Amino acid sequence: MNTNSCTMIIFGATGDLTLRKLIPAIHQLKWGGYLPEDFNLVAIGRKPKDDAEYRENLLDGMKTLTNILVEQSTWDYISERIHYFKMDFSEDGEYERLHAYLEKNKKENNFSSNYLFYLAVAPDKFGFIVKNLKEKNISSENGNWSRLVIEKPFGENLQTAYDLNDEIAKAFNEENIYRIDHYLAKEMIQNITMLRFQNTIFEPLWRNTYIDNIQISVLEKDGVGSRGGYYDQTGALRDMVQNHLLQTLAITAMEPPASLGADDMRDSKVKLMSELVLFDPGKSKTDVIFGQYEGYHNETGIAEDSETETFAALKLFIDNPRWKGVPFYLVTGKKLSEKSAQVTIQFKNPAVCNASGKSNPIYELTPNSCANILEIKIQPREGIHLRLNTKKPAVEDQSVVAEMEYCQSCQYSFNTPDAYEKLILDVIKGDSTRFTRWDELALSWYFIDSIDKKSVPLVSYKDESEGPQEADLLLKRDDRTWWFKE
Ligand code: BG6
Repeated sequence: MNTNSCTMIIFGATGDLTLRKLIPAIHQLKWGGYLPEDFNLVAIGRKPKDDAEYRENLLDGMKTLTNILVEQSTWDYISERIHYFKMDFSEDGEYERLHAYLEKNKKENNFSSNYLFYLAVAPDKFGFIVKNLKEKNISSENGNWSRLVIEKPFGENLQTAYDLNDEIAKAFNEENIYRIDHYLAKEMIQNITMLRFQNTIFEPLWRNTYIDNIQISVLEKDGVGSRGGYYDQTGALRDMVQNHLLQTLAITAMEPPASLGADDMRDSKVKLMSELVLFDPGKSKTDVIFGQYEGYHNETGIAEDSETETFAALKLFIDNPRWKGVPFYLVTGKKLSEKSAQVTIQFKNPAVCNASGKSNPIYELTPNSCANILEIKIQPREGIHLRLNTKKPAVEDQSVVAEMEYCQSCQYSFNTPDAYEKLILDVIKGDSTRFTRWDELALSWYFIDSIDKKSVPLVSYKDESEGPQEADLLLKRDDRTWWFKE
């Protein structure tokens, strides 16, 4: 399969994602020497612009919206290969023009016929675009490859996800559909697999015999910003939990896959997703917390009487021998006091908590304070933190907590690739390991749909706080606390 030539066709080329993520990723790929030699990018947008103006917008965007150091010769190289194509992609007739444009450029300018279609548009446009790519023969796979990249959200529930998938499957084979969940390309999420399966000291303990509970927290400092229109229809459960948090959970809890290849990894995740214990209305009421930040109604694009949740916390279980009885606590929210994401594994309390039996102030802090903790820090700082109990050097036998810290981002601060760099390169190479397969996506919707949203009360929380108190009570009830607050 030729990975050395590709025409990338972006729908939604003037949008935020293209400016902030896609073009910077292309810049970095070229800079790192990973971009195919024969590469062109067709940027499709509705606004009238010529190439020069569009390229200037991209350069401005990279300089002002990202922290990328633009390297002049790299930018010169890629900007020459970026071509703006004005088109209203909701018009049937426009696709013939696109077809003719690509054919002409293939003949006259050697554009590759390996097509990477990237849909960076509102989800309600996905089906229409894909149908037209097929019908107008643009996506044909005649000896070359045609791959489709779809941003989330993939549907709004199981039924709409099915409908969308049916439409897409008419035009592309499953192996050519790349459903993005950019969390799968985050360094530390990939590191979970490495940590579990390439360290003999962890995998034997990775089960209910030794683990008390697992917490996954993805907290954001920003509010909804300019995405109010989308967000108000979606909410935290569907925007974050259905995809990023459940994928993180699946990677953390799945059975060891037969190999780290795309199919085996995804088979293991699918099995795990099928074992999630569904919510009934009673459990939705007690084990799910929804919150909304106080200033939410002042944001642009939010309905006056909106009851959309901007915070979600839930407690769930996995019905298999490895995890029977172990609660998984998931939490995510916007407009919180800090941006951070981590997976925390809390091991069971040791049989002896304080060797001397004398009072030790450390252990009086929380009921959890004797537990060994393994934290996988996803962002902003990437690393691993392990908490052990050790003897305090003194004549008396007292133990003290030793914090062992591996800060990955301190060591590799300039080299860590952004998720989108890896994802675009994966698509060019035809590697779908870091993308979501249809069956796992369907199961994640099946689980999310089991939450009876109507029975979950919506509570308010202060902007830039740690979220609503009710989320603390969810754990307090079980005599536990959130580790992200420690
Ligand atoms: C996106 C959500 O998928 O992920 C956003 O739609 C959210 O609402 C974003 O802000 C968070 O991504 P990251 O990489 O900043 O944690």
